[in-house]
Amino acid sequence: METILTTGGLGYIGSHTAISLIKNGFNVLIIDSLKNSKQNTLKNIEKIIKNEKAEKKGKLFFRKGDLRNESWLEKIFQEFKDENHPIKSVIHFAGLKSIGESIIKPLEYWDNNINSTLCLLSVMSKFSCYKLIFSSSATVYKTNIKNKITEKDLLDPINPYGNTKFCIEKILEDIFKSDKKKWKIACLRYFNPCGAHHSGLIGEDPLINHLNIFPTLLKVIEKEIDKLPIYGSDWPTKDGTCIRDYIHVMDLAESHLASLIYISRNKPNFIHLNIGTGKGVSVLELIKTFSKVNKCIVPYYFTNRRQGDAAIVVADNKLAIKIIPWKPQRDLNDICRDTWSWFINNNKS
Ligand SMILES: NC(=O)c1ccc[n+]([C@@H]2O[C@H](COP(=O)([O-])OP(=O)(O)OC[C@H]3O[C@@H](n4cnc5c(N)ncnc54)[C@H](O)[C@@H]3O)[C@@H](O)[C@H]2O)c1
Repeated sequence: METILTTGGLGYIGSHTAISLIKNGFNVLIIDSLKNSKQNTLKNIEKIIKNEKAEKKGKLFFRKGDLRNESWLEKIFQEFKDENHPIKSVIHFAGLKSIGESIIKPLEYWDNNINSTLCLLSVMSKFSCYKLIFSSSATVYKTNIKNKITEKDLLDPINPYGNTKFCIEKILEDIFKSDKKKWKIACLRYFNPCGAHHSGLIGEDPLINHLNIFPTLLKVIEKEIDKLPIYGSDWPTKDGTCIRDYIHVMDLAESHLASLIYISRNKPNFIHLNIGTGKGVSVLELIKTFSKVNKCIVPYYFTNRRQGDAAIVVADNKLAIKIIPWKPQRDLNDICRDTWSWFINNNKS
Protein backbone atom coordinates (compact mmCIF):
# COMPACT_ATOMS: atom_id res chain seq x y z
CA MET A 1 0.00 0.00 0.00
CA GLU A 2 1.38 3.37 -1.00
CA THR A 3 1.74 6.07 1.65
CA ILE A 4 0.49 9.54 0.80
CA LEU A 5 1.51 12.54 2.86
CA THR A 6 -1.30 15.07 3.19
CA THR A 7 -0.05 18.38 4.54
CA GLY A 8 -2.74 20.35 6.35
CA GLY A 9 -4.71 17.13 6.26
CA LEU A 10 -6.79 17.83 9.38
CA GLY A 11 -8.32 20.88 7.73
CA TYR A 12 -11.60 21.05 5.86
CA ILE A 13 -10.63 19.61 2.47
CA GLY A 14 -7.79 17.41 3.72
CA SER A 15 -9.97 15.57 6.26
CA HIS A 16 -12.54 14.65 3.59
CA THR A 17 -9.80 13.63 1.16
CA ALA A 18 -8.25 11.32 3.78
CA ILE A 19 -11.47 9.31 3.79
CA SER A 20 -11.47 8.94 0.01
CA LEU A 21 -7.84 7.84 -0.01
CA ILE A 22 -8.02 5.40 2.90
CA LYS A 23 -11.14 3.64 1.66
CA ASN A 24 -9.37 3.21 -1.68
CA GLY A 25 -6.45 1.45 -0.06
CA PHE A 26 -3.89 4.24 0.42
CA ASN A 27 -2.09 4.82 3.70
CA VAL A 28 -2.42 8.46 4.73
CA LEU A 29 0.04 10.38 6.85
CA ILE A 30 -1.43 13.69 7.96
CA ILE A 31 0.90 16.48 8.98
CA ASP A 32 -0.83 19.51 10.45
CA SER A 33 0.20 22.35 12.75
CA LEU A 34 -3.42 22.69 13.99
CA LYS A 35 -3.19 26.40 13.20
CA ASN A 36 -6.68 26.21 11.64
CA SER A 37 -7.96 22.77 12.64
CA LYS A 38 -8.75 20.64 15.66
CA GLN A 39 -7.17 17.39 16.82
CA ASN A 40 -10.58 15.75 17.42
CA THR A 41 -11.13 15.73 13.63
CA LEU A 42 -8.66 12.82 13.62
CA LYS A 43 -10.99 10.72 15.81
CA ASN A 44 -13.91 11.57 13.57
CA ILE A 45 -12.00 10.55 10.44
CA GLU A 46 -11.22 7.24 12.18
CA LYS A 47 -14.90 6.76 13.08
CA ILE A 48 -15.99 7.34 9.48
CA ILE A 49 -13.34 4.97 8.13
CA LYS A 50 -14.45 2.26 10.58
CA ASN A 51 -18.00 2.47 9.21
CA GLU A 52 -16.95 2.50 5.55
CA LYS A 53 -17.37 -0.68 3.58
CA ALA A 54 -14.21 -1.17 1.57
CA GLU A 55 -12.27 -4.19 0.39
CA LYS A 56 -8.88 -2.97 1.49
CA LYS A 57 -8.56 0.05 3.74
CA GLY A 58 -5.33 1.97 4.19
CA LYS A 59 -3.93 3.11 7.53
CA LEU A 60 -4.08 6.58 9.06
CA PHE A 61 -1.07 8.27 10.70
CA PHE A 62 -0.79 11.74 12.21
CA ARG A 63 2.14 13.96 13.16
CA LYS A 64 1.59 17.41 14.63
CA GLY A 65 4.02 20.04 13.41
CA ASP A 66 4.77 22.94 11.13
CA LEU A 67 6.05 22.22 7.62
CA ARG A 68 8.47 25.12 7.89
CA ASN A 69 10.49 23.04 10.36
CA GLU A 70 12.54 21.38 7.64
CA SER A 71 14.78 19.20 9.84
CA TRP A 72 11.71 17.83 11.62
CA LEU A 73 9.99 17.15 8.29
CA GLU A 74 13.07 15.32 7.08
CA LYS A 75 12.98 13.10 10.18
CA ILE A 76 9.36 12.18 9.42
CA PHE A 77 10.23 11.20 5.83
CA GLN A 78 13.15 9.14 7.21
CA GLU A 79 10.98 7.51 9.89
CA PHE A 80 8.41 6.38 7.31
CA LYS A 81 11.14 5.14 4.99
CA ASP A 82 12.75 3.14 7.82
CA GLU A 83 9.40 1.61 8.75
CA ASN A 84 8.76 0.44 5.20
CA HIS A 85 6.04 3.01 4.49
CA PRO A 86 8.09 5.41 2.29
CA ILE A 87 6.19 8.55 1.33
CA LYS A 88 5.61 8.26 -2.40
CA SER A 89 3.23 11.16 -3.04
CA VAL A 90 2.17 14.38 -1.38
CA ILE A 91 -1.10 16.29 -1.42
CA HIS A 92 -0.22 19.78 -0.25
CA PHE A 93 -3.27 21.33 1.41
CA ALA A 94 -1.41 23.21 4.16
CA GLY A 95 -1.72 26.95 3.92
CA LEU A 96 -3.52 29.94 5.33
CA LYS A 97 -6.64 30.68 3.31
CA SER A 98 -8.53 33.75 4.50
CA ILE A 99 -8.48 36.45 1.83
CA GLY A 100 -9.46 39.15 4.35
CA GLU A 101 -6.80 38.14 6.85
CA SER A 102 -4.18 37.97 4.10
CA ILE A 103 -4.79 41.65 3.30
CA ILE A 104 -4.19 42.58 6.95
CA LYS A 105 -1.29 40.14 7.53
CA PRO A 106 0.45 39.69 4.15
CA LEU A 107 3.81 38.74 5.68
CA GLU A 108 2.26 35.95 7.68
CA TYR A 109 0.65 34.59 4.51
CA TRP A 110 3.81 34.84 2.41
CA ASP A 111 5.88 33.27 5.19
CA ASN A 112 3.51 30.42 5.93
CA ASN A 113 2.36 29.53 2.42
CA ILE A 114 5.64 29.99 0.55
CA ASN A 115 8.17 28.82 3.13
CA SER A 116 6.17 25.70 3.99
CA THR A 117 6.09 24.82 0.27
CA LEU A 118 9.84 25.41 -0.14
CA CYS A 119 10.67 23.19 2.86
CA LEU A 120 8.32 20.51 1.58
CA LEU A 121 9.80 20.51 -1.93
CA SER A 122 13.33 20.39 -0.60
CA VAL A 123 12.58 17.36 1.61
CA MET A 124 10.60 15.65 -1.15
CA SER A 125 13.62 15.99 -3.47
CA LYS A 126 15.95 14.53 -0.83
CA PHE A 127 13.72 11.47 -0.56
CA SER A 128 13.09 11.14 -4.31
CA CYS A 129 9.38 11.77 -3.82
CA TYR A 130 8.26 13.43 -7.03
CA LYS A 131 4.46 13.15 -7.12
CA LEU A 132 2.64 16.23 -5.90
CA ILE A 133 -0.90 17.56 -5.94
CA PHE A 134 -1.20 21.18 -4.91
CA SER A 135 -4.30 22.96 -3.57
CA SER A 136 -4.57 26.01 -5.76
CA SER A 137 -7.58 28.22 -6.15
CA ALA A 138 -9.83 30.01 -8.61
CA THR A 139 -8.52 33.21 -6.98
CA VAL A 140 -5.48 32.98 -9.28
CA TYR A 141 -7.65 34.01 -12.26
CA LYS A 142 -8.43 37.51 -13.41
CA THR A 143 -11.77 38.30 -11.80
CA ASN A 144 -13.85 39.85 -14.56
CA ILE A 145 -13.98 36.93 -16.96
CA LYS A 146 -17.43 36.75 -18.57
CA ASN A 147 -17.66 33.10 -19.57
CA LYS A 148 -16.83 29.94 -17.70
CA ILE A 149 -13.17 30.04 -16.67
CA THR A 150 -10.82 27.69 -18.51
CA GLU A 151 -7.32 26.76 -17.41
CA LYS A 152 -5.95 28.91 -20.24
CA ASP A 153 -7.57 32.14 -19.00
CA LEU A 154 -5.55 35.03 -17.73
CA LEU A 155 -4.05 34.79 -14.25
CA ASP A 156 -4.12 37.96 -12.19
CA PRO A 157 -4.76 37.48 -8.47
CA ILE A 158 -5.74 40.60 -6.58
CA ASN A 159 -4.99 39.82 -2.95
CA PRO A 160 -2.03 38.43 -0.95
CA TYR A 161 -3.68 35.02 -0.54
CA GLY A 162 -4.20 34.67 -4.30
CA ASN A 163 -0.68 35.96 -4.91
CA THR A 164 0.78 33.18 -2.74
CA LYS A 165 -1.15 30.55 -4.71
CA PHE A 166 0.03 32.06 -8.01
CA CYS A 167 3.60 32.19 -6.73
CA ILE A 168 3.53 28.55 -5.58
CA GLU A 169 2.24 27.50 -9.01
CA LYS A 170 5.25 29.31 -10.52
CA ILE A 171 7.66 27.61 -8.08
CA LEU A 172 6.19 24.25 -9.06
CA GLU A 173 6.54 25.07 -12.74
CA ASP A 174 10.22 25.92 -12.22
CA ILE A 175 10.81 22.72 -10.25
CA PHE A 176 9.17 20.69 -13.00
CA LYS A 177 11.22 22.41 -15.71
CA SER A 178 14.41 21.75 -13.76
CA ASP A 179 13.98 18.04 -14.39
CA LYS A 180 11.11 17.14 -16.66
CA LYS A 181 11.84 13.44 -16.33
CA LYS A 182 11.07 13.35 -12.61
CA TRP A 183 8.22 15.46 -11.41
CA LYS A 184 4.53 14.66 -11.73
CA ILE A 185 2.64 17.70 -10.52
CA ALA A 186 -1.03 18.67 -10.63
CA CYS A 187 -2.26 22.07 -9.47
CA LEU A 188 -5.95 21.76 -8.68
CA ARG A 189 -7.73 25.10 -8.84
CA TYR A 190 -10.73 24.75 -6.56
CA PHE A 191 -13.82 26.88 -7.05
CA ASN A 192 -16.19 27.09 -4.03
CA PRO A 193 -15.81 24.03 -1.80
CA CYS A 194 -18.74 23.50 0.56
CA GLY A 195 -20.87 20.80 2.18
CA ALA A 196 -19.66 18.12 4.55
CA HIS A 197 -19.29 14.36 4.86
CA HIS A 198 -22.81 12.87 4.89
CA SER A 199 -22.19 11.35 8.36
CA GLY A 200 -22.16 14.88 9.79
CA LEU A 201 -18.96 13.96 11.67
CA ILE A 202 -16.62 16.27 9.77
CA GLY A 203 -17.21 19.55 7.94
CA GLU A 204 -15.93 23.08 7.68
CA ASP A 205 -14.72 24.06 11.14
CA PRO A 206 -12.21 26.90 10.83
CA LEU A 207 -10.51 28.51 13.83
CA ILE A 208 -9.61 31.55 11.73
CA ASN A 209 -12.64 33.56 10.70
CA HIS A 210 -13.20 33.71 6.97
CA LEU A 211 -16.10 34.97 4.94
CA ASN A 212 -17.15 31.87 2.99
CA ILE A 213 -20.90 31.83 2.59
CA PHE A 214 -21.76 28.57 4.39
CA PRO A 215 -19.93 29.26 7.69
CA THR A 216 -21.59 32.71 7.68
CA LEU A 217 -24.99 31.22 6.89
CA LEU A 218 -24.62 28.79 9.81
CA LYS A 219 -23.82 31.71 12.10
CA VAL A 220 -27.22 33.16 11.14
CA ILE A 221 -28.93 29.84 11.94
CA GLU A 222 -27.10 29.78 15.30
CA LYS A 223 -28.27 33.38 15.84
CA GLU A 224 -24.64 34.44 16.32
CA ILE A 225 -25.40 37.06 13.67
CA ASP A 226 -28.90 38.37 12.81
CA LYS A 227 -28.88 38.26 9.03
CA LEU A 228 -26.78 37.02 6.14
CA PRO A 229 -25.10 39.88 4.28
CA ILE A 230 -25.43 39.72 0.51
CA TYR A 231 -22.76 41.84 -1.12
CA GLY A 232 -24.53 43.67 -3.95
CA SER A 233 -27.99 43.34 -5.50
CA ASP A 234 -27.19 44.97 -8.84
CA TRP A 235 -24.71 42.57 -10.43
CA PRO A 236 -25.35 41.81 -14.10
CA THR A 237 -26.85 38.39 -13.28
CA LYS A 238 -30.39 36.98 -13.47
CA ASP A 239 -31.37 38.07 -9.93
CA GLY A 240 -28.69 40.72 -9.29
CA THR A 241 -26.64 38.60 -6.86
CA CYS A 242 -23.26 37.01 -7.51
CA ILE A 243 -23.01 33.64 -9.17
CA ARG A 244 -20.52 31.04 -7.93
CA ASP A 245 -19.65 27.42 -8.58
CA TYR A 246 -20.34 25.51 -5.36
CA ILE A 247 -18.70 22.10 -5.29
CA HIS A 248 -19.41 19.43 -2.67
CA VAL A 249 -16.30 18.78 -0.59
CA MET A 250 -16.59 14.99 -1.14
CA ASP A 251 -16.61 15.54 -4.92
CA LEU A 252 -13.54 17.70 -4.40
CA ALA A 253 -11.97 14.97 -2.22
CA GLU A 254 -12.59 12.42 -4.98
CA SER A 255 -10.90 14.69 -7.52
CA HIS A 256 -7.67 14.31 -5.49
CA LEU A 257 -7.91 10.54 -5.60
CA ALA A 258 -8.53 10.65 -9.36
CA SER A 259 -5.67 13.11 -9.90
CA LEU A 260 -3.30 10.99 -7.86
CA ILE A 261 -4.12 7.89 -9.87
CA TYR A 262 -3.82 9.92 -13.08
CA ILE A 263 -0.37 11.38 -12.35
CA SER A 264 0.87 8.02 -11.05
CA ARG A 265 -0.09 6.23 -14.28
CA ASN A 266 1.20 8.89 -16.65
CA LYS A 267 4.63 10.18 -17.54
CA PRO A 268 6.08 13.17 -15.67
CA ASN A 269 4.04 16.27 -16.31
CA PHE A 270 2.89 19.58 -14.86
CA ILE A 271 -0.84 20.25 -15.19
CA HIS A 272 -3.47 22.66 -13.98
CA LEU A 273 -7.07 21.57 -13.55
CA ASN A 274 -10.20 23.48 -12.63
CA ILE A 275 -12.16 21.62 -10.01
CA GLY A 276 -15.72 22.85 -9.99
CA THR A 277 -19.16 21.68 -11.11
CA GLY A 278 -19.38 23.95 -14.15
CA LYS A 279 -22.78 25.14 -12.86
CA GLY A 280 -23.39 28.65 -11.58
CA VAL A 281 -25.69 29.30 -8.61
CA SER A 282 -26.67 32.76 -7.41
CA VAL A 283 -26.55 33.73 -3.74
CA LEU A 284 -30.35 34.05 -3.66
CA GLU A 285 -30.77 30.61 -5.26
CA LEU A 286 -28.42 29.16 -2.68
CA ILE A 287 -30.38 30.68 0.22
CA LYS A 288 -33.67 29.45 -1.28
CA THR A 289 -32.35 25.90 -1.69
CA PHE A 290 -30.84 25.85 1.81
CA SER A 291 -34.15 27.03 3.34
CA LYS A 292 -36.19 24.50 1.35
CA VAL A 293 -33.95 21.47 1.96
CA ASN A 294 -33.53 22.16 5.66
CA LYS A 295 -36.95 23.69 6.31
CA CYS A 296 -35.53 26.80 7.89
CA ILE A 297 -35.60 30.56 7.40
CA VAL A 298 -32.42 32.43 6.50
CA PRO A 299 -32.88 36.17 7.09
CA TYR A 300 -30.64 38.25 4.83
CA TYR A 301 -29.94 41.83 3.85
CA PHE A 302 -28.26 43.53 0.91
CA THR A 303 -25.11 45.54 1.46
CA ASN A 304 -22.41 47.10 -0.72
CA ARG A 305 -20.36 45.07 -3.15
CA ARG A 306 -17.00 43.92 -1.79
CA GLN A 307 -13.84 45.15 -3.45
CA GLY A 308 -12.46 42.55 -5.82
CA ASP A 309 -15.67 40.50 -6.12
CA ALA A 310 -16.83 39.46 -9.58
CA ALA A 311 -20.35 38.90 -10.91
CA ILE A 312 -19.79 35.34 -12.09
CA VAL A 313 -17.06 32.82 -11.22
CA VAL A 314 -17.83 29.42 -12.71
CA ALA A 315 -15.40 26.69 -13.77
CA ASP A 316 -15.08 25.20 -17.17
CA ASN A 317 -14.35 21.73 -15.77
CA LYS A 318 -14.14 19.83 -19.07
CA LEU A 319 -10.41 19.20 -18.83
CA ALA A 320 -10.59 17.48 -15.43
CA ILE A 321 -13.62 15.46 -16.54
CA LYS A 322 -11.76 14.35 -19.65
CA ILE A 323 -8.31 13.57 -18.38
CA ILE A 324 -8.28 12.37 -14.78
CA PRO A 325 -11.25 11.31 -15.30
CA TRP A 326 -13.65 12.49 -12.63
CA LYS A 327 -17.14 13.93 -12.40
CA PRO A 328 -18.99 15.68 -9.58
CA GLN A 329 -21.69 13.34 -8.25
CA ARG A 330 -23.49 15.60 -5.78
CA ASP A 331 -25.72 18.65 -6.25
CA LEU A 332 -26.71 21.77 -4.32
CA ASN A 333 -29.43 19.86 -2.41
CA ASP A 334 -26.76 17.43 -1.16
CA ILE A 335 -24.50 20.32 -0.20
CA CYS A 336 -27.28 21.99 1.81
CA ARG A 337 -28.43 18.73 3.46
CA ASP A 338 -24.92 17.62 4.45
CA THR A 339 -23.98 21.08 5.74
CA TRP A 340 -27.07 20.90 7.95
CA SER A 341 -26.22 17.41 9.31
CA TRP A 342 -22.74 18.64 10.13
CA PHE A 343 -24.15 21.74 11.81
CA ILE A 344 -26.60 19.74 13.94
CA ASN A 345 -23.95 17.19 14.89
CA ASN A 346 -21.34 19.83 15.66
CA ASN A 347 -23.69 21.78 17.87
CA LYS A 348 -24.68 18.88 20.11
CA SER A 349 -23.46 19.67 23.59
N1 LIG B 1 -11.78 26.07 1.39
C1 LIG B 1 -11.73 26.83 0.32
O1 LIG B 1 -12.67 27.61 0.05
C2 LIG B 1 -10.53 26.79 -0.62
C3 LIG B 1 -10.67 27.26 -1.94
C4 LIG B 1 -9.56 27.23 -2.78
C5 LIG B 1 -8.34 26.74 -2.30
N2 LIG B 1 -8.24 26.31 -1.02
C6 LIG B 1 -6.93 25.84 -0.55
O2 LIG B 1 -7.03 24.47 -0.19
C7 LIG B 1 -6.19 24.16 0.92
C8 LIG B 1 -7.02 23.50 1.98
O3 LIG B 1 -8.11 24.36 2.31
P1 LIG B 1 -9.03 24.08 3.57
O4 LIG B 1 -10.31 24.76 3.29
O5 LIG B 1 -9.01 22.65 3.92
O6 LIG B 1 -8.24 24.93 4.64
P2 LIG B 1 -8.03 24.62 6.19
O7 LIG B 1 -7.54 25.86 6.81
O8 LIG B 1 -9.26 23.99 6.75
O9 LIG B 1 -6.87 23.52 6.15
C9 LIG B 1 -5.52 23.86 6.00
C10 LIG B 1 -4.76 23.15 7.10
O10 LIG B 1 -3.37 23.48 6.97
C11 LIG B 1 -2.84 23.60 8.28
N3 LIG B 1 -1.62 24.42 8.14
C12 LIG B 1 -1.51 25.71 7.73
N4 LIG B 1 -0.23 26.09 7.68
C13 LIG B 1 0.51 25.00 8.06
C14 LIG B 1 1.90 24.76 8.19
N5 LIG B 1 2.81 25.72 7.94
N6 LIG B 1 2.32 23.53 8.59
C15 LIG B 1 1.42 22.55 8.84
N7 LIG B 1 0.08 22.72 8.74
C16 LIG B 1 -0.36 23.93 8.34
C17 LIG B 1 -3.94 24.24 9.10
O11 LIG B 1 -3.82 23.98 10.48
C18 LIG B 1 -5.18 23.57 8.51
O12 LIG B 1 -5.55 22.43 9.23
C19 LIG B 1 -5.57 25.49 1.35
O13 LIG B 1 -4.29 25.58 0.81
C20 LIG B 1 -6.49 26.53 0.73
O14 LIG B 1 -5.80 27.71 0.42
C21 LIG B 1 -9.31 26.31 -0.18
